[in-house]
Amino acid sequence: MTAVLEGSVALVTGGARGQGRAHAVRLASDGADVIALDICADIPTVAYPLATDADLAETARLVEAQGRRVVARKVDVRDRAALQAAVDEGVAALGPVRIVVANAGIAPIMGGFDEDDTFADVIGVNLVGAWNTVKAAAPSMIEAGRGGSIVLISSTQGLKGTGGDGTAGITGYATSKHGLVGLMRSFAHWLAPYSIRVNTVHPTGVPTPMITNDVMQAHLRSTPATSDRQGNLLPVPMVECQDISDAVVYLVSDSGRYLTGVTLPVDAGFHAR
Ligand SMILES: NC(=O)c1ccc[n+]([C@@H]2O[C@H](COP(=O)([O-])OP(=O)(O)OC[C@H]3O[C@@H](n4cnc5c(N)ncnc54)[C@H](O)[C@@H]3O)[C@@H](O)[C@H]2O)c1
Repeated sequence: MTAVLEGSVALVTGGARGQGRAHAVRLASDGADVIALDICADIPTVAYPLATDADLAETARLVEAQGRRVVARKVDVRDRAALQAAVDEGVAALGPVRIVVANAGIAPIMGGFDEDDTFADVIGVNLVGAWNTVKAAAPSMIEAGRGGSIVLISSTQGLKGTGGDGTAGITGYATSKHGLVGLMRSFAHWLAPYSIRVNTVHPTGVPTPMITNDVMQAHLRSTPATSDRQGNLLPVPMVECQDISDAVVYLVSDSGRYLTGVTLPVDAGFHAR
């Protein structure tokens, strides 16, 4: 039987670990070749470590273990020229992109750094990074003329401002994730004539290194009121990476062929509370 994404090339940012790795491996297991990009370095205003070269190499190994090809590159999504060069390399090696998962993100919500730098970094990575990603990939998608699907990974914080406290990290995170909805809606109009669909996914908490790291856990313990407000309606504290990958695959496969301009929560009822 032909895999559902056979013949597709998927671009995944933030692909070295966490949800990005899960998406890369899942898309590969469904037949896609993968361009996996990640900064593989820390950002000074982010108190927890970001991914490493070894993490990205492990994602590449896992994609290849699915029998698929991979181009893995270390790149900061804020650097439009470097991102374009990495995408171009991927396209030259694997063929035109048909699937984009703009997933790279930071959550510098613990404070402790200059607030203007923090705000600029979270907007720069989470929002400008997604703009750069789509702008780098869309021309080759349009030129290929095969349609495609773009998923911007937002958050429950992209639809609600729960827990807002005026700090740069929390405010900037919610602002960037709401901004992705505007980006998605505008891109959906731009790209619809080319049969390229654009949607957002809004996960509730997922146990990745963004959340499970010691710094974030200590911060959450020290702000119990904020943590309480992040609760889900269903009796689960978090969902798994695989739940988000399922939603991504649904959107990028034929199953989602008439979905565009949609904000899809995978949130265990967080929004229904
Ligand atoms: N974990 C959660 O609870 C949760 C909930 C909702 C939404 N999200 C979003 O899901 C996405 C994936 O996060 P995750 O949970 O897997 O966390 P994570 O920290 O494990 O993964 C994020 C990845 O993005 C990479 N990255 C960060 N800045 C980058 C940059 N400038 N350029 C390229 N790569 C960069 C990191 O190195 C890391 O590999 C993020 O956009 C995040 O905001 C996470």
